[in-house]
Amino acid sequence: MEPAKRIVIIGGGKMGEAILSGWIASDAAPADTIEAKDIVVVTPGIDRRDFLEGMYAVACVGSPSEVTVRPDLVVLAVKPQVMMQVIAELSQEELFCDGEQPALFISIAAGLETARLVHVLPEGSSLVRVMPNMPLMVGAGASCVCASAASTAEQVEYVAALFGCLGRALVVDEGDMDAVCAVSGSGPAYVAAMVESLRDAAADAGLDRQVAEDLALQTVLGTAQLIMETGMTPEAARESICSPGGTTLAALDAMNAAGFDKVFRAGVEAAVRRSKELAQL
Ligand SMILES: NC(=O)c1ccc[n+]([C@@H]2O[C@H](COP(=O)([O-])OP(=O)(O)OC[C@H]3O[C@@H](n4cnc5c(N)ncnc54)[C@H](OP(=O)(O)O)[C@@H]3O)[C@@H](O)[C@H]2O)c1
Repeated sequence: MEPAKRIVIIGGGKMGEAILSGWIASDAAPADTIEAKDIVVVTPGIDRRDFLEGMYAVACVGSPSEVTVRPDLVVLAVKPQVMMQVIAELSQEELFCDGEQPALFISIAAGLETARLVHVLPEGSSLVRVMPNMPLMVGAGASCVCASAASTAEQVEYVAALFGCLGRALVVDEGDMDAVCAVSGSGPAYVAAMVESLRDAAADAGLDRQVAEDLALQTVLGTAQLIMETGMTPEAARESICSPGGTTLAALDAMNAAGFDKVFRAGVEAAVRRSKELAQL
């Protein structure tokens, strides 16, 4: 399919910014053809609009009625709680409802199922759902892409390629999306919280706080790289560092006694539950 040339991003928050900055900066196909001048951001806050215009040279407007080009790609990057109202608003606008050349919509909202969105989008529009994550801002994202009843295989492939320009992108079934949200969508926050805890514990043990943070961050990055580049399993990596009677085993035993082995299960279950609740809003 033809690469998108007129892109509207609805919602200029953290994720809208991460996507637009990544696409503008990318020199990988198909995002390599996307330039700042091709993007219009619709977002209500005037300060936010000024920031995005100044930082990325994209056009920003306060509502869909102010968009003056017919978009061929629309990224819905608002909170799930306001998504229905936002779609109702843009469905009033002729430029978003061109039956001759309907736009391809991408929803990145947690929880909201495509069946619900397809129903309310302008007639003839296509829809692909994506669960991205924040590291896509630095080209290291993990995104999952799924089809809807209103998408073609070619569109799914194109959207996966677009998000693949911002890190890794996998195509999954929509039934997997709650779990995806709980692992990679929310995951960067778990990792950041883990780095905070490790840094604070090391600082309590007497290490300079900044040194502790640098070491914790490099350790997360290095461990992921080690496992991915050698192809070893996480279990093998862990075991290779634990010598009998050594410090690592002592630490992991103490961590598991404090509930570490249950922490991620509890977190993922809570996130999946919340994702299902958001689907009902
Ligand atoms: N953050 C993540 O790591 C992450 C990961 C995966 C998926 N997501 C999904 O990404 C979506 C956006 O999340 P976010 O973290 O970027 O949230 P956010 O930072 O709060 O951004 C949402 C943006 O939408 C704007 N907005 C509110 N009402 C609007 C309207 N009627 N029309 C246009 N824009 C409107 C908000 O503007 P004001 O602030 O001025 O109200 C805000 O700038 C959510 O659906 C979330 O589930 C987020």
